[in-house]
Amino acid sequence: MDKVCAVFGGSRGIGRAVAQLMARKGYRLAIVARDLDVAKAAAAGLGGDHLAFSCDVAKEHEVQSTFEEIEKNLGRVNFLVNAAGINRDNLLVRTNTEDMICQLHTNLLGSMLTCKAAVRTMIQQHGGSIVNVGSITGLKGNSGQTVYSASKGGLVGFSRALAKEVARKKIRVNVVAPGFIHTDMTKNLKEEHLKRNIPLGRFGEPTEVAHAVVFLLESPYITGHVLVVDGGLQLVI
Ligand code: NAI
Repeated sequence: MDKVCAVFGGSRGIGRAVAQLMARKGYRLAIVARDLDVAKAAAAGLGGDHLAFSCDVAKEHEVQSTFEEIEKNLGRVNFLVNAAGINRDNLLVRTNTEDMICQLHTNLLGSMLTCKAAVRTMIQQHGGSIVNVGSITGLKGNSGQTVYSASKGGLVGFSRALAKEVARKKIRVNVVAPGFIHTDMTKNLKEEHLKRNIPLGRFGEPTEVAHAVVFLLESPYITGHVLVVDGGLQLVI
């Protein structure tokens, strides 16, 4: 059976690093991003016959049609990585409702929708593996990131519940929870100051998260697990 993996948010950052690693390991990839041209450029950069799709994960009809298109053009998805995510950092009292909804819809509802579509196709194939990219903030909380933390904490509860629900169908669901990683999301942070708190003394690289994602995707006896990839940050916060 072909190993077909859909990587949502696969055009840049952590998702892109996951896609690059999986391409080298022989997976057929569906690179999914909001902008089709961006997704196409990322897919082309992988070499091989990987395909690009555009989808806003927060929109159910787009998620459904994307899975249909992937099945038609690449085959049934048996691996799923949810790396799409946004942050709108602010103190709660200064966070407007639109920013709350936007973060919850992209980070939490979006993963629920893609998991729902993936589980349907995985049940038909008698198995599959899902990794959702959470965050250390979802476990520890972070001042200035209340809503983002809630979206990522919710993702942990969702993933563990789904892991229980679908284990008998031989579908596994795990979470990777990164700390500070060098991507567009963290480019405006005060790195010199923040890295003093990190036991390993530096931000992580997307490839370092990608290895954890692929490890969980391929570990046949691990489900419902949250793997923290944070240079030891969780030990001190
Ligand atoms: P990034 O900003 O480089 O990538 C985010 C990706 O999500 C982009 O490809 C973007 O197009 C996609 N995306 C955003 N909204 C979308 C939507 N509505 N529909 C479809 N795609 C959408 O950031 P990064 O760091 O690569 O983020 C990947 C995941 O890792 C996110 O879930 C983020 O919350 C999480 N994360 C990142 C950390 C970091 O330090 N960079 C730390 C902890 C978690």
